[in-house]
Amino acid sequence: MSVSLRGRSAIVTGAAVGIGNAYARALAREGCNVAVIDIRPDIADLPKELEKNGIKSFAVQGDVSQPQVVRKFVDQVAAQFGGVDILINNAGQCWVSLVDDDLDKVEKDWEGMVGTNLRGEYLMGRAVIPLMLKAGRGGEIVNIGTDHGVTCGSPNEICTHVESTCPWHETPRPTGGGTVLDIYDASKYGTYALTFAWAKALRPSNIRVNCICMGATDSHMIRGFFGERATPEEVATWMTAENSAQVVVDILKEGPKGRTGETINLCIGRKTVLEPERKPIYVTPESVGYNARETVDA
Ligand SMILES: NC(=O)c1ccc[n+]([C@@H]2O[C@H](COP(=O)([O-])OP(=O)(O)OC[C@H]3O[C@@H](n4cnc5c(N)ncnc54)[C@H](O)[C@@H]3O)[C@@H](O)[C@H]2O)c1
Repeated sequence: MSVSLRGRSAIVTGAAVGIGNAYARALAREGCNVAVIDIRPDIADLPKELEKNGIKSFAVQGDVSQPQVVRKFVDQVAAQFGGVDILINNAGQCWVSLVDDDLDKVEKDWEGMVGTNLRGEYLMGRAVIPLMLKAGRGGEIVNIGTDHGVTCGSPNEICTHVESTCPWHETPRPTGGGTVLDIYDASKYGTYALTFAWAKALRPSNIRVNCICMGATDSHMIRGFFGERATPEEVATWMTAENSAQVVVDILKEGPKGRTGETINLCIGRKTVLEPERKPIYVTPESVGYNARETVDA
């Protein structure tokens, strides 16, 4: 089933550049009214572009980790667009953190990465969800995670494509982002928890909550992270923000009967498309050959 997004009221955070910019443009092309927020001043230029699609748009320059900023922004969206139907929690920050970093660095790391990636998402949810519930017309939340939690070889899940073109198919992927992203990964693992908890709590109200967990995607962030270390060959493997945006549109178009509570893995080395809904795997004592009594006796 594919539902129309025309006339829906959407928020995209972190839309000035990068993947969020592509998300905002894709939603505007689908006919959504789109409100955007970003700390960068050039966010002010985006609404003019989006409105070329015949929709309404406005921008706020603001920090999603600040409750007063979030409250004011969301109230403005509700007043101007008549509610909020779609929330894309995309704003993110990422840089290297090491396990033996000095305490002097932790405040910047925590405020920047946990502040934006997790606290920002949590605040946006707390501002938007009560409005969605009150309006009683369902809703859509898409959180943006990373593949560090869900790619092949991680403890969370074994990727079903592991035998094919996946670059990690010979050696299991190191857990998370390896050894240089502990706080970034912690913030994104928090995102999965919010996704699961919100999906479960909001399912009866027809509010779906999913999380996009992508690998390397061309953007300001990844170019800044790799700098000149990224060879043209490597850059050529990165996914595009536009393809990621099409996946978000396809999730939204599933409508109220679509999947919820899913961490959707977009993986370099295979096509950036929305794959069929994954059926839940229930782990039972029988399925893992576990017998509590035997363990105790041993
Ligand atoms: N690019 C990748 O390879 C990749 C991979 C996995 C996940 N992600 C995630 O995708 C999302 C988008 O990343 P991107 O690659 O487009 O990054 P980007 O740096 O290119 O864009 C991020 C945008 O968010 C904005 N932003 C940052 N902090 C903010 C704050 N506190 N309040 C409001 N706006 C803020 C930035 O100004 C920027 O416009 C992030 O959540 C990121 O963690 C990216």
